[in-house]
Amino acid sequence: MSEFKPQIFSGVQPTGNLHLGNYLGALRKFVALQDQMDCIYCVVDLHSITAQLVHDDLKSQTRSITAAYLASGIDPVKHIVFNQSAVPQHAELAWIFNCVARIGWMNRMTQFKDKAGKDRENASLGLLAYPSLMAADILVYRATHVPVGDDQKQHLELTRDIAMKFNLDFAKKIKEIGKGVDITVGDQPVHAFFPMVEPLIEGPAPRVMSLKDGSKKMSKSDPSDLSRINLTDDADTVARKIRKAKTDPDALPSEVDGLKGRPEADNLVGIFAALSDRTKADVLSEYGGQQFSQFKPALAELAVNVLSPVNAEMRRLIDDPAHIDAVLKDGSERAGAIAEKTMKDVHEIVGLL
Ligand code: TYM
Repeated sequence: MSEFKPQIFSGVQPTGNLHLGNYLGALRKFVALQDQMDCIYCVVDLHSITAQLVHDDLKSQTRSITAAYLASGIDPVKHIVFNQSAVPQHAELAWIFNCVARIGWMNRMTQFKDKAGKDRENASLGLLAYPSLMAADILVYRATHVPVGDDQKQHLELTRDIAMKFNLDFAKKIKEIGKGVDITVGDQPVHAFFPMVEPLIEGPAPRVMSLKDGSKKMSKSDPSDLSRINLTDDADTVARKIRKAKTDPDALPSEVDGLKGRPEADNLVGIFAALSDRTKADVLSEYGGQQFSQFKPALAELAVNVLSPVNAEMRRLIDDPAHIDAVLKDGSERAGAIAEKTMKDVHEIVGLL
């Protein structure tokens, strides 16, 4: 093999409602990439038990994320849509990666620090090892590109570290079985079994911020529902949340530079740009000089136009769980066939009988 086959992989946790951050940071990019590469999109149910073990409605949450994938426009026939727990090779490779990765690497993860809070000793071992499972999700398909929001960047750097250490530790064996690819990392030539994944984070809204505080990420766990737009919000709620979004008293600038030091303005312009597939500069060339009292209704109209069809289709799909389950079953079988092949080679490389 002279090169890794280009392959997209990404995942979303089935915990809580999806919001505009998930939509712009992930789902909308997933859809756009379908024309460029083979894509595998996963609902990562095993990740969602790391912070909280018992969920009343994990199955319906898994179906609802699947519905969001499909409603956003992901094609589950051309590509693969499935849930993580249905392909046991993810957990198996994660175990091997637990033996590759170092505890120090995991301890440095900001998401672990945030989620574990002050009582780190009491966090689950799964929460600490979370990035190892994430690396396994990606690498069990030897995926090369991963579309995510900016908050996942550190986890993808760790995925590269794990891949690199595995490739170097097992360099001899990888050569022996003849399944490696010659790549260059920095200026170091490496005979790699696992690719160095490229994060796909760019775009005008890589980190959508809270509508109530431009210094905080829009998140499922924010206690204020006004801080986020949920994909399940109806048109009136979307418009009301945008109307109530925090802003500053100045008019919008005409240049992107003028957004510096104005996090709320920057966020709303970024959202507008991402929802309309434009750049921030382009949006400002139209709205520069206008007050928020003019810009917000335009943003609300745009958000409702984009999100309403997704919302309606999600509702329709959620009412048809048999269809969702059939999509997941078919996706799991196809994903499983790829994962099985990788794990066969991994067994050989590691020396498992
Ligand atoms: P999760 O479920 O928290 O979020 C799903 C996706 O939404 C993005 N996102 C955002 N993007 C922009 N602005 C925001 N405010 C915002 N909030 C969330 C996330 O970056 C993510 O892309 N660890 C992952 C799930 C995962 C995964 C993977 C992703 C598991 N295995 C393998 C990629 C590849 C997570 O918790 O995402």
